[in-house]
Amino acid sequence: MHVAARTQHLRESVIREMTRLALSCGAVNLSQGFPDFDPPEAVLEAATAALRGGQNQYSVSWGLPVLRQRLAERYRTMLGWDVDPDRHVAVTCGVTEAVACAFFAILDRGDEVLVLEPAHETYGPAALLADASIVPVVLEAPEFRLDPDRLAAAVTPRTRAILVNTPHNPSGRVFDAAELAALAEVAVRHDLVVVTDEIYDEILYDGLVHVAPGSLEALRERTITIGGLGKTFAMTGWRLGYAIAPSSLAVAVRGAHDFLTVCAATPLQAAGAAALQLGTDYFDRMRADYHDRRALFCTALDDVGLRAGRPQGAYYAMADFTGLRPDLDDLAFTHWLMQEAGVASVPGRVFYSDPAQGRSLVRFAFAKRLETLQDAADRLRATLG
Ligand SMILES: Cc1ncc(COP(=O)(O)O)c(C=O)c1O
Repeated sequence: MHVAARTQHLRESVIREMTRLALSCGAVNLSQGFPDFDPPEAVLEAATAALRGGQNQYSVSWGLPVLRQRLAERYRTMLGWDVDPDRHVAVTCGVTEAVACAFFAILDRGDEVLVLEPAHETYGPAALLADASIVPVVLEAPEFRLDPDRLAAAVTPRTRAILVNTPHNPSGRVFDAAELAALAEVAVRHDLVVVTDEIYDEILYDGLVHVAPGSLEALRERTITIGGLGKTFAMTGWRLGYAIAPSSLAVAVRGAHDFLTVCAATPLQAAGAAALQLGTDYFDRMRADYHDRRALFCTALDDVGLRAGRPQGAYYAMADFTGLRPDLDDLAFTHWLMQEAGVASVPGRVFYSDPAQGRSLVRFAFAKRLETLQDAADRLRATLG
């Protein structure tokens, strides 16, 4: 039977495939970026109460009012403009859907989106489903800094948008003021929309503070700000994300979302609203826990000669393995590591349009209990140390 050409470029996510392999061979799974611990107790209780309390039907397509209200409050501070829950917010099924809806909203056939690579594997397929494509702007390892000239040089007459993910998966970079200013300059000069992916906006280290690109004066009118609850509250399976944008962009995003998924799961949206009410002690504790995880795991990487800097945000370590196994490429190395050490990781190529760019790199996700990370560290030391 005929299938559409666009589907021929959609393959199983390599990251999800690594998870499957890890499960089948009993490896410690540091491939896919999800926690092996539960959301906060109060949030689980709120979900149960919503399920038992009759909140089981469709919600308003763009989100349960209480959740939109909390998001609007939060983003008025983060973005510095008067976010209206009834006009500017769309709750989606995860950041993945929010990015897809943003692309459906702004891209026509043949359009291009600039994406800083390495990049999360969802953006290319999302563009493809919108009959558009991504154009990579490579951030050079090991610093992964944005080169403004490279960004400007990637613009063509078909460029419509720049996607920026900060804190950044997989590099752990938090883009600084100079990098964001350079990005804003290119966006304004070429009249581009900025689509952000700020799913790790609460997971920063060493006192760094998140700056939403859409809070920059120059970008306010042209930014679709995207975030999600999955990482912050350890609930990636709940599929809660959102997009926040000025009216003209928000209307278009909502339209796409309405006909793609109708709405996110109603009882989980109710619990998501409860999560956003947790006090600063929850966020402080969470960040302290991530510091402990980063310290334990990145020290183990150093000890065995897997060269990775310290991430500034998010919960990944991108390591160069060539000092250990120069004979292997990234795919061979991850399979070897899974078999020999029993630790699952992700080959660098997954994050690049040109697989060769990732051939010396491997990514580990450390959003795990300390016992899990200690197990992984012991296994790495036993095999590589
Ligand atoms: C940068 C980034 N964007 C998006 C996603 C997917 O988000 P969601 O599970 O909310 O769809 C992830 C998940 O790992 C991610 O790391």
